[in-house]
Amino acid sequence: MRAPLQNAEPNSNRHLANKTVHVKSYGCQMNVYDASRMGDVLAPLGYVNDPDMFAADLVILNTCHIREKAAEKVYSELGRLRVEKESRADSERPMVIAVGGCVAQAEGEEILRRAPYVDMVFGPQTYHRLPLMLRTLAQRGEAVVDTDFPADDKFDALPDVQPDGAAAFLTIQEGCDKFCTFCVVPYTRGAEFSRPVDPVLREARLLAGKGVREITLLGQNVNAYHGDNGNGDELTLGRLIRKLADVEGIERIRYTTSYPAEVDDDLISAHRDVPALMPYLHLPVQSGSDKILKAMNRRHSSGDYKDIVRRLRDAQPDLALSSDFIVGFPGETDADFQATLDLVQSVGFVQAYSFKYSPRPGTPAADMDDQIPEAVKSARLQLLQDLLNRQQIAFNESCVGRDLPVLFDRPGARPGQLVGRSPYMQAVHADAPADRMGEIITVRIDRAKPNSLSGTIRPIGADASSNAKREVVA
Ligand code: SAH
Ligand code: F3S
Repeated sequence: MRAPLQNAEPNSNRHLANKTVHVKSYGCQMNVYDASRMGDVLAPLGYVNDPDMFAADLVILNTCHIREKAAEKVYSELGRLRVEKESRADSERPMVIAVGGCVAQAEGEEILRRAPYVDMVFGPQTYHRLPLMLRTLAQRGEAVVDTDFPADDKFDALPDVQPDGAAAFLTIQEGCDKFCTFCVVPYTRGAEFSRPVDPVLREARLLAGKGVREITLLGQNVNAYHGDNGNGDELTLGRLIRKLADVEGIERIRYTTSYPAEVDDDLISAHRDVPALMPYLHLPVQSGSDKILKAMNRRHSSGDYKDIVRRLRDAQPDLALSSDFIVGFPGETDADFQATLDLVQSVGFVQAYSFKYSPRPGTPAADMDDQIPEAVKSARLQLLQDLLNRQQIAFNESCVGRDLPVLFDRPGARPGQLVGRSPYMQAVHADAPADRMGEIITVRIDRAKPNSLSGTIRPIGADASSNAKREVVA
């Protein structure tokens, strides 16, 4: 039974005072960015964030479709929400359940068939229309599905960004035209689209004005960026990074996720010339076997990848690399898998994500012959992760004794402790006064753990062995 929705009239703040929303995000950083922008869209309607999902008036599951497990999580979470929704059906505060993100985009109406108590289904390109969806839901009292790829630019319709810390994401590019044969992203996020330069710079200035020191530029294929410069010209990612580095207050720039074949000379020279561009790069390779890379439609060989890494390291010798790997792609032999291990050995990664191949309906690889048994995938994943973990630990240990500039952006588990990020994305714990939050402080690294570092903040005047431009020392 659908809950009554008389309180959901969005244009009336009187009714909406104290309305609460909880957005739960799955998957990639783009979803994290989208979730915060949904909050920005709903704030003018009177919605405030509720950290307790089961107490919120509006619950949005911002879903991920990349692997089967990620997609299935949505339905188990919906099952739990249904119980809460039914218990509140006749109360003053009925629950509205919305499914957004890539599962919503891929499954659309199917979600309502499997979970008829869901009120709204919307894709990653329509969340700026959330107020309209809520109004339609209130007026019609029946579920709303909006999974278009609208021609208008959703970013134009979004209100000003509201960061909540010293590090923020900034989406500059969306969608993917690469069609790797295993991947759903081109279907769920649509064709490649670059935001024009001016609104990107404006958003960066806004963020900097609100205390943001580090921005991570986001795109499914971020280095395919070619944004309109307003004068008939287009900027590459490398040239955009140079402009962003000039924004007062922005001290650190990162970008993710990049595609090897789109790493161009502009980007490589930005790594050489722009001190604010952090010496850390997530550059997915997926496999070290040329046969598998071809079957994946990756448009680069393992030799190409190594060559790109060599050129990047020539430009920025301090560069630390991270990557994504898939094991057990259809047709992957022991020799193909060994080629992946060899590539990992020869490149050296400081961090990585590795996954068992998960067949996704509608993608070419799902119909390929020679699917690999689960047990083989699991064994290969274990071997690969052991090697990657060893490399990660070795890198973390090599940081002990170094002075690293750390941007502190959250409180630590203990009182008196802050946690921040090193230039290489490691979490760094140190004792520091709470009012130093949001600053970049030089830290002498004392201890390395597999997933984090800890250290001591350095006195004023101490030198950091870093290339950060304007760091603050304690
Ligand atoms: N450019 C994208 C990357 C795609 S998804 C981005 O915006 O992050 C992230 C990673 O998930 C991929 O690099 C790949 O390693 C993994 N992945 C994608 N599809 C997969 C599948 N069907 N099975 C297993 N892993 C997958
Ligand atoms: Fe997916 Fe390949 Fe694009 S991994 S996001 S189709 S580059």
